[in-house]
Parts: sequence; structure tokens; C-alpha cells
Amino acid sequence: MERLIAQLKTARDLPDEGLAALIESEAATAPLAAAADGVRRQVYGDAVYLRGLIELTNHCRNNCYYCGIRRDNRTLTRYRLTHAQVLACCREGYDLGYRTFVLQGGEDPYYTDERLCGLVAAIRAAYPDAAITLSMGERSKESYRALFNAGANRYLLRHETADDAHYAKLHPAELSLAHRKQCLRDLKAIGYQVGSGFMVGSPGQTTACLVQDLRFLQELDPDMIGIGPFLPQADTPFARSPKGDLTLTLRLISLLRLLFPHALLPATTALGTLDPNGRELGLQAGANVVMPNLSPVGVRALYALYDNKICTGEESAQCRGCLERRVAAAGYRVVTDVGNVKRSVT
Ligand code: SAM
Ligand code: FES
Repeated sequence: MERLIAQLKTARDLPDEGLAALIESEAATAPLAAAADGVRRQVYGDAVYLRGLIELTNHCRNNCYYCGIRRDNRTLTRYRLTHAQVLACCREGYDLGYRTFVLQGGEDPYYTDERLCGLVAAIRAAYPDAAITLSMGERSKESYRALFNAGANRYLLRHETADDAHYAKLHPAELSLAHRKQCLRDLKAIGYQVGSGFMVGSPGQTTACLVQDLRFLQELDPDMIGIGPFLPQADTPFARSPKGDLTLTLRLISLLRLLFPHALLPATTALGTLDPNGRELGLQAGANVVMPNLSPVGVRALYALYDNKICTGEESAQCRGCLERRVAAAGYRVVTDVGNVKRSVT
């Protein structure tokens, strides 16, 4: 294992068999984290960037089998934040030091280009020094361009799995990996800083799928890569599927840091939900971003992607304080700048 890790560190790559061996090796978890932490400190020092997450809407036209806000979940109370609520979240976040706002939501047809561009433009006008990240799913290239022109800088769209057959196990037939990939290419061509990623331990995932995920990411070369464990949600077809594994997720974070030294890698809320210490472990495995929740407390539990989601009862200021303490306890330092990718260092 040590030899493979050393090879990965210098060559920033390995043949498929080497990646597969590290993915599967429980014993590699700690040495991978140590190597990844070394690389992360070379590129980013001990900095951890904050992204204020605003959960814009839990309406969704899609029916992904894993996701709690899927359209067939009739038990869920649906909500949309108003324009004024979103701007109030941004104000609160800005005052707490956040310089990136992430607007995330289901694919909600209410958000026409006109409405979403209006919202983005209002945030851009109020906070010219902040980055605006969108995570609103698949849209047309024209729509992505209009949003970029309105002031959005970054876009998060996980590819979910780079294996066609696995993609078809996780999504109904109207959704395709080819279209998802096209969206990612469109976003890059327009000039967004792009984030992709996948769930770890989603039903039917194999080591070969994970190797394909890493290969797809190498091809895409994104600025941000978000991964987190799959967690079941009671009102979905995968309600009884087992959750993703903690150490497997940590090994994948470390592998991503070694393959993509410059990447912005979040220690996700899903990781913190899987294990009370999950986000701290994620940082120690190579992650360098945390995404505190800025949504109004009243809607947080309704953005119910999976069961037992953390941070649904905390005020934004408490979340900020809590995460700052957690980051410090893990041995890192929260920084409150816009936190762009540092490609030039690598
Ligand atoms: N609609 C947008 C999209 O599709 O990219 C953004 C919202 S979507 C709910 C955000 C991410 O949540 C997905 O990319 C997926 O990886 C993750 N997610 C959904 N259900 C999940 C689950 N049950 N466990 C873990 N992550 C989940
Ligand atoms: Fe929200 Fe800890 S990050 S309460």
C-alpha cells in the first residue's frame, strides 16, 4: 500500500488496478489521509473555505430513486424561499463572513430563467465581492449562459456515477448520464468554475464504478469535487438500502486530493450525518471546504434529501460558530475569503 500511495503522490495517477486496490483497502485509510493532508497543506495550507448554503426550493420535477425530494414523494411539504428570504439569508451570511453563497434546489420549473436571473442579479448587485454558486440541476446551455451573465460564477452538478448501467439503476429512464455530462461541458465552456462529484455507496455501486468516477473527473478536470455517502431516505425506493461506508468515503476524499491537488473538496453535511465526527475526519482526509447551512431554520428539515440530516435546528450564527470550532479542533483554520481554486500552485 505504501508503495502505491508514494507512486500516486508523485505521478498524480495510478493504473486502474492500483486505484481499485486503494479504494478497497481499509488499511490504506490512515496512510492515504496522511499523504492527502500533506498535499492539501502544500497547496492550501491549513485554510478551510466556507460556503453558505441556501436551500432555495424542495420542489423537483425529477424522480431520482435515492433522493428524498423526488417528485413522487407525496408526504413531503414543499416550499420555495421568497426573493426577500434569500436576500435576508445572504445578508446574514455576509455579516457572518461568508463570501460564497450556494443556491441549491430541486429542478423546480417555477425557476424560469427570468426568475432565477432576477434573483442572481439582485445578489450580485448587493454583494459584488461574493461568489455566487448555483446548484439547480440540468438546464439548457442558453439558461446557464443567462445565469452566468446575470452574475453567477460557479455551478455544482454532481455526475452521480460515471457508469451508464449504474446511472440507470439510480435514475428513471428520462434522465441520462450523457445529458448530465453535456451539461457539465456546457457549464465549463461558458466559463463557470465547475463542480462535479458522486455519492459513495449508492445502491449497486462497485469498485469499478468508483474507478470510472475518478477517470471521468480526470477528463472533466473540475475545480470543485463534492462527494458524500449515500444515505437512505424513508420515502424513496431505496429506503431500505444500506448507507455508504465512512472509511470508504474518507479514502475517496484522500484519493481525490492526491489526484487533484488543487481541487476544492467539501467535507459534506452527509458525511457529518453519517458520523458525528465525519466532517472533521473529512478535513483530515484532504477536504478543504465546509458548507454551513444559511437556510431559514423552518425549511431545513424539509430539504430532506436523506434521513436524520444534521444542522436542521441551528440558527445560522450557531452553525458558523459550531463549524469554526470543529474546523479548529480538526487542526485547520476557517478563512472568510471568496476561496477560489488555486490552480497556479500546482
Ligand atoms: N437538483 C440539483 C442536482 O441535481 O444537482 C441539486 C440538488 S441535489 C438534491 C444535490 C445532491 O444531493 C445530489 O447531487 C446528490 O448527490 C445528493 N443526494 C441526493 N439524495 C441523496 C441521498 N439519499 N444521500 C446522499 N446524497 C444525496
Ligand atoms: Fe450547523 Fe454544526 S454546522 S450546527
